[in-house]
Amino acid sequence: MSHVQRLDNRIAVVTGAAAGIGLATAQVFACEGAHVYLTDIDGARAEDAARALTAAGLKATAMAVDVSKGQDVTALFRAIEQGPGRIDVLVNNAGLNVREDFRHLSDADWVRIREVNLDGVVRIARDGFNLLKASGRGSLINIASIMGHRGLRQLAGYSATKGAVSALTRALAVEYAPYGIRVNALAPGFIETALTERVLRNPMINKALIDQTPMKRFGSGEDVAAAAVFFASDESGFITGAELAVDGGMSAAL
Ligand SMILES: NC(=O)c1ccc[n+]([C@@H]2O[C@H](COP(=O)([O-])OP(=O)(O)OC[C@H]3O[C@@H](n4cnc5c(N)ncnc54)[C@H](O)[C@@H]3O)[C@@H](O)[C@H]2O)c1
Repeated sequence: MSHVQRLDNRIAVVTGAAAGIGLATAQVFACEGAHVYLTDIDGARAEDAARALTAAGLKATAMAVDVSKGQDVTALFRAIEQGPGRIDVLVNNAGLNVREDFRHLSDADWVRIREVNLDGVVRIARDGFNLLKASGRGSLINIASIMGHRGLRQLAGYSATKGAVSALTRALAVEYAPYGIRVNALAPGFIETALTERVLRNPMINKALIDQTPMKRFGSGEDVAAAAVFFASDESGFITGAELAVDGGMSAAL
C-alpha cells in the first residue's frame, strides 16, 4: 500500500525552522508533500536546512525572518503573496527562554522573551490572516508549552508568554473560524533541543524531570512534528481551539 502524503500541495510556513522542533516539523511537512518555507532569525542555517530538503527532492524555501521585527514579517508575507498567494499551514514555533529567578529578571531579558514568544506569535497570526484565508482551509498552529499551565523555578517569564499563547489560540479559533481557518496549539513537555540542552545536562534536574514523566523519556522534535502534521492536515478538519500536550504524560501526572 502506498503512503498517502497528508500535506500534498500544501503551502506551509514554519518560524524558527532552522533547529529543534521547528526543523523537525519542516522536515516532516516536506516529507508529507508540502512546500515548506523555513524561516528563522538564523537565515544561513535555514538556508542549509532547505538545501538539504531540496537535494532530497522535496519542496523547500528558506528566508531570514526575525519574528520580533515587523519589517521581516511583512517581507515574508509579501514574498508569499507574490509567490503561491496563500498559506495552508502556518506554524508559530520561534521561541526562546532566559532562565532566571523572577525577582532578578531584567527588563531587557523580559522584553526579549516577550518580543519573540508572544509579540512574534501575535504578529504572525495577525499579519498572516489574509494568506490563511486565501487557502480556504488554513491551519494556524501555535507552539505553546505545558509551562503555560504549570510552574517551575526560573521559568516564570517564559510561562507567562506561553500561557498567553494558549489563551490567544482559543480566542483566535473563535474569531478565525468564519474564514475557514482553524487555530490550534501544541504544548510540548520536555523535548531534547538546544533550548533544553543545558538544563537536561544537569543530572539532578534530568532525573527529577524523568521521574515526573510517566513515559520515562524526553521527547524529540519528531514527536512534536507528528502532532503538528495532525493539526495541519484534514485529519483534524473539525478541530479548532484545541491544545494537545506532547509531553509523555507529564501534565497528566500528579
Ligand atoms: N524544547 C522544549 O522542551 C520545548 C517545550 C515546550 C515548548 N517549546 C517551544 O517550542 C518552540 C521551539 O523550541 P526548540 O526547543 O525547538 O528551540 P531551539 O532553540 O532548538 O530552536 C528555536 C529556533 O528558533 C529560532 N529563533 C529564535 N529567536 C527567533 C526569532 N526572533 N525569530 C525567528 N526565529 C527565532 C532559533 O534560531 C532556532 O532555530 C519554542 O517556541 C519553544 O518555546 C519547546
